Parts: sequence; structure tokens; C-alpha cells
Amino acid sequence: MKGKLLVIGLVAALLLAVAGMIAAMDMQASGPAARYLPAGTSPSDLPEPESEGAKLVARHCQACHSVPLPSLHYAEDWQEVIARMRVLAMSRVMAPLPVATPAEERALLAYYQRHAPKPPAAAAAAAAAAEEP
Ligand code: HEC
Repeated sequence: MKGKLLVIGLVAALLLAVAGMIAAMDMQASGPAARYLPAGTSPSDLPEPESEGAKLVARHCQACHSVPLPSLHYAEDWQEVIARMRVLAMSRVMAPLPVATPAEERALLAYYQRHAPKPPAAAAAAAAAAEEP
């Protein structure tokens, strides 16, 4: 009787360990989302890595894929991306993730927009303006 309980206990512990490992794998940048972003980025690659914005990125944006650098989108496109990511983060039921508060999300957006590359037209206009005497 005791031996049977021990076996059941061991099997349960094993199942829990496997479930935990699967959940942990999903949390890292090896899940399905990984292939959407260039791999190999880390929080230290972010512009102003010590800034509040970069810290928010490190906290909220690398659970499902590699660290998304601001250079991936023009400023005007980041809002849509970040809103989509919020929905994805909120939909995680099995292994819940910290979801950015509205204030944190505004700071994230401001950070991405501040460091986003200029679209070619805007960059050309800025260069032309800089050349004018
Ligand atoms: C819950 C998991 C999850 C979290 C957290 C998450 N993402 Fe994503 N991300 C995904 C998935 C899934 C995709 C691919 C599907 C898609 O693009 O909608 C993706 C794709 C992306 C892409 C590439 C697609 C595109 O539109 O450029 C960028 C950039 C991105 N995420 C940025 C972010 C940022 C910034 C954050 C933090 C605010 C973040 N992600 C947090 C799951 C997540």
C-alpha cells in the first residue's frame, strides 16, 4: 500500500516537473514567436539601456521572443505593434505574464518612438533643413 502511494507520488512529481519545463520553454525566446524577430538581441543592445523605457522593454517584451529593438519600426508604427503585443500578453492563461500598466505602456511607446529610425522622406527633409544656411 505504502509502495503504491510512493509510485503515484513519484509519477505526479515527474508530471509536474515536465509541465514546468514546458511552461518555462514557452516563456523563453524559443516559442513560436521567436521566428518573427531577429535572434540574439539582449537588453544591453537597447539604446539608453539604463533608461526607464529600456527596463520596461526588458521586463515586458522578451518573454515570448528576443528583445525587440526600436530600429524595427518607424515611430508611427510602434503604437499598433505594442497594442497587439498587449493582447497577446493578456491572452496568456497557462503561464501568465506581467502585463504593462497603461502608464508603463505609454512609457514603452514613447521609448520606442523616440529611438525609432526616421522614414526615408522625413530623413531627407531633415537633412535638407540642416543644410540650409
Ligand atoms: C505573450 C507573448 C508576447 C509578448 C509578451 C510580447 N510579444 Fe511581441 N510577438 C509575439 C508574437 C506571438 C509575435 C508574432 C505574431 C505577431 O506579430 O502578432 C510577436 C511579434 C513581435 C514583433 C514582430 C512583428 C512586428 O509587427 O514587427 C515585434 C516588433 C514585437 N513582437 C514587439 C514586442 C514588444 C515591443 C513587446 C513588449 C511591449 C512584445 N513584443 C511582447 C508575442 C509576444
